[in-house]
Amino acid sequence: MIVDIINKKRLGKELSYREIDKFFNGYLDGEIKDYQMSALLMAICINGMSDEEVFALTKVFIDSGDILEFDDIPGIKVDKHSTGGIGDKTTLIIAPIVASLGIPVIKMSGRGLGYTGGTIDKLESIKGYRIDLDDEDIVKQVKKIGVVVTGQTADLVPMDKAIYALRDVTGTVSSIPLIASSIMSKKIASGADKILIDIKVGNGALLTTKKDANELSRLMIEIGKIYKREVRTIISDMNVPLGTSIGNSLEVLEAIDILKGRETDNNLYDLCIELASNMVSMGKGIELGDAIKEVVDSLNRGHAYEKFLELVSAQGGKIDSLKVSDKVKELKASKSGKIKSINALELGKLSMALGAGRTNKEEKIDYEVGIKLEKLVNESVKKGDVLARVYYNKKFDMPEVNSIFEIV
Ligand code: URA
Repeated sequence: MIVDIINKKRLGKELSYREIDKFFNGYLDGEIKDYQMSALLMAICINGMSDEEVFALTKVFIDSGDILEFDDIPGIKVDKHSTGGIGDKTTLIIAPIVASLGIPVIKMSGRGLGYTGGTIDKLESIKGYRIDLDDEDIVKQVKKIGVVVTGQTADLVPMDKAIYALRDVTGTVSSIPLIASSIMSKKIASGADKILIDIKVGNGALLTTKKDANELSRLMIEIGKIYKREVRTIISDMNVPLGTSIGNSLEVLEAIDILKGRETDNNLYDLCIELASNMVSMGKGIELGDAIKEVVDSLNRGHAYEKFLELVSAQGGKIDSLKVSDKVKELKASKSGKIKSINALELGKLSMALGAGRTNKEEKIDYEVGIKLEKLVNESVKKGDVLARVYYNKKFDMPEVNSIFEIV
């Protein structure tokens, strides 16, 4: 009985592979209802899962759709995934860097839900950019230019799509076993040889403690071992937003600045170097120190930027079409002092209020709006200095500056 499975998990007992398979596939078939799945997800969220249960769930997820193989593309394919953060546009920067160094990159990205924008939404702020490449298009493009950044096909882990949408509205997104199986199933099904995971921790992330991040890291590495995939993890801070821009077009413009070497002095640049170098180290089987040199060199010589332009053009995008709203409001410092913190979560909420993200899957995004930080953590400011510019198109409630910037 369905309810027996829910009760078993409610009591913190271990579910068998058969029970997990029956319940989750029953949901996909429509036999198990949203409210029953929601109850099980909440029981998992509260009581957790054993490693064996997580392995079973990951297998059920993978088996729900196509398993892609890109064996006829030469080279080791390294994929990267982030658990999601405010202002996270790293894929736009590292995919071209890594591809410019001869490592094939096939990146299938998702749309944003919650406060964090998705890579695919950001790319769609470039007019014409196609995010619906099929397997054949992907292989053709990777063989030609070495890089693809596209949306996940409908057949890539359909179970994750269905469950993620339910998790998003039932307060069950931040469950470690559910995050591990969601991410790892997609990475394994999308044909990556090696996998790099950026686990974000902080008030603007799904996980808020280092302990949880370490546990997620351990689980993902264990799942990787089962499928013979090398998995590396990086745990990075998400108490402050990444870089200076939040919002779709603004984030693409910021990514271009990094690729052109115009912005090198912030947490986004540092994280991109770390992620790209790990991918290059895994892809080429070289020491991290040597990979860092290659990555910095690719940026400095403009090779990564050239690869980005090639990528955008191959997927039909018109880079000159990027547009930011000309309606701007300023957030000004209420006193003089030093910026102690910038609240990523509050900025995420503001970007949602502006229309840069969506509160349900059907909602349309406004690509032109967002926030540009003019001052960063540790900078000294004077009362009245502009701390951030807010680009808007519709009416919104301007937040209290002190709810975002802590000045001491
Ligand atoms: N990203 C995913 O793809 N899945 C999760 O569960 C969390 C973040």
